Amino acid sequence: MNNKFHIIVAMDLNKGIGKNNSIPWKIKEDMAYFKNMTVCPNLYEVWNAYKTDTMEMLSGTKFTQPGVEINAVIMGRKTWESLPPKFRPLPNRKNFVLSRTAQPEIPNCYTSIDEIMEVISRDESIKNTFVIGGAQIYEEALKHPALDKIFITQIAEVYDCDTFFPELVGTYHVTWGPKDFKDLKFKFTMYEK
Ligand SMILES: NC(=O)c1ccc[n+]([C@@H]2O[C@H](COP(=O)([O-])OP(=O)(O)OC[C@H]3O[C@@H](n4cnc5c(N)ncnc54)[C@H](OP(=O)(O)O)[C@@H]3O)[C@@H](O)[C@H]2O)c1
Repeated sequence: MNNKFHIIVAMDLNKGIGKNNSIPWKIKEDMAYFKNMTVCPNLYEVWNAYKTDTMEMLSGTKFTQPGVEINAVIMGRKTWESLPPKFRPLPNRKNFVLSRTAQPEIPNCYTSIDEIMEVISRDESIKNTFVIGGAQIYEEALKHPALDKIFITQIAEVYDCDTFFPELVGTYHVTWGPKDFKDLKFKFTMYEK
């Protein structure tokens, strides 16, 4: 049974995550990381590869694709709308959208994380669930008891942003990831309780 979810986010040095309902940077390695993490049903296969291999070694790596098992992603209505129509729903993942009002044109749209987690817990094909943003949904997710791990891509720059990742609540602390940037332009980190 799948009754936990993870958060995945990319942020700049000021915790900026977005501007004008889009993402203010284009980092192809992070796009690949996001895809690999959210698509591959074996989280540790991806995570262990990113822990041990360099970006050069990883480029072109084929991770296990969904078969009987598939992952789910949960996003806010604005993030859904920020995706170009031809890329939504995000392929090879079950997409769920949160809105406070009925959105008949958006598939799998629900009014609370609890409602979505209830659907997910009854779906035996769903392996891992990721909350993928934006800021309002991260805020809800950070307070939710089903939150497990937080995967943060930290970017060593400051961008012009109008949307920010909320303060981490509780006892979350970094359990894996490079301590400082050294000559890295970005780093992948994992936070746990
Ligand atoms: N850097 C990253 O990793 C990353 C990831 C994702 C998104 N982003 C960026 O984040 C920005 C969007 O974030 P955002 O905070 O403006 O919007 P959002 O969180 O994507 O969506 C907000 C919408 O979600 C619904 N909502 C919020 N709280 C809810 C609740 N408690 N229950 C039910 N529905 C709820 C509401 O929809 P209704 O108005 O329909 O009621 C609200 O307008 C964009 O710039 C996007 O590109 C960045």
